[in-house]
Amino acid sequence: MAGRLAGKRAVVTGAAAGIGEGITRRFLEEGATVLAADLDPSAVAPAGPGVPGRLEAARLDVTDRPGIAALAERIDREWGGVDVLVCNAGGTLTQYPPVLDADEDYWDRMFVLNARSVFDTCRAFVPLMRDGGSVVTIASAGVVVHKTGFGVYGAAKAAVARMTQAIAGDYASRGVRANAICPGTIATAAIQRMLATAPDREERERVQLAGIPLGRFGTPRDVGNLALFLASDESSYLTGTVQVLDGGATLG
Ligand SMILES: NC(=O)c1ccc[n+]([C@@H]2O[C@H](COP(=O)([O-])OP(=O)(O)OC[C@H]3O[C@@H](n4cnc5c(N)ncnc54)[C@H](O)[C@@H]3O)[C@@H](O)[C@H]2O)c1
Repeated sequence: MAGRLAGKRAVVTGAAAGIGEGITRRFLEEGATVLAADLDPSAVAPAGPGVPGRLEAARLDVTDRPGIAALAERIDREWGGVDVLVCNAGGTLTQYPPVLDADEDYWDRMFVLNARSVFDTCRAFVPLMRDGGSVVTIASAGVVVHKTGFGVYGAAKAAVARMTQAIAGDYASRGVRANAICPGTIATAAIQRMLATAPDREERERVQLAGIPLGRFGTPRDVGNLALFLASDESSYLTGTVQVLDGGATLG
């Protein structure tokens, strides 16, 4: 079976766990060659028997500018270019302050991890899309709805969504498309860590689930399915979009 991404060379950041792992798995199932880049490449799960794609793991810290550039240089040398880039690595810190209680250090760390990282990764890898390509960024539903404790994170993710649209506009003439995914609550270790900070974890989880019309948290595979569509030629007329994927949670 050829697969929907047969012949595509993809780079996925933060690929060892959670959403990044879900995306990597879907890409491999559909025949892509995937560079799974993560702080901990030893944690990248093998492709498994019968999976048509090819997997390579590499160490990458998306807050490390020279490290990103060096990895892009090596991949260009060895692969001769890339077709798909998924900027997924990012996340929250361990505190969730009301927005103006965040200090400068919190703001800076949040923006380096979530926004500057996407800028740097795109700057390094988009020039490698010589035959066109697809950029997929993972922003957050926090771009469109406010939740106390996620103000600075939401601002950094809003920067990601807008930057994605800017890439779409500036590089369309070179055949590069760019779309952002804004996930709601996706069941990953990051969400477990966040729920664990609540005084009553079960009540917090119950309230959160009650706010999702489809009645469940999303899965990494749900995000993988949308990323697959955005990466594939099936979405060849789609660019500059910001797609909320949240089981209806932002309907209000
Ligand atoms: N889980 C959710 O509900 C949710 C919702 C909206 C947006 N997101 C976004 O999705 C992305 C992935 O979140 P997740 O829940 O899968 O997280 P996770 O913590 O479950 O997994 C994150 C992965 O990224 C890697 N990573 C962390 N920092 C990195 C760095 N500096 N450089 C390279 N790799 C790094 C980790 O090693 C890990 O493998 C993040 O950008 C997050 O903000 C998640």
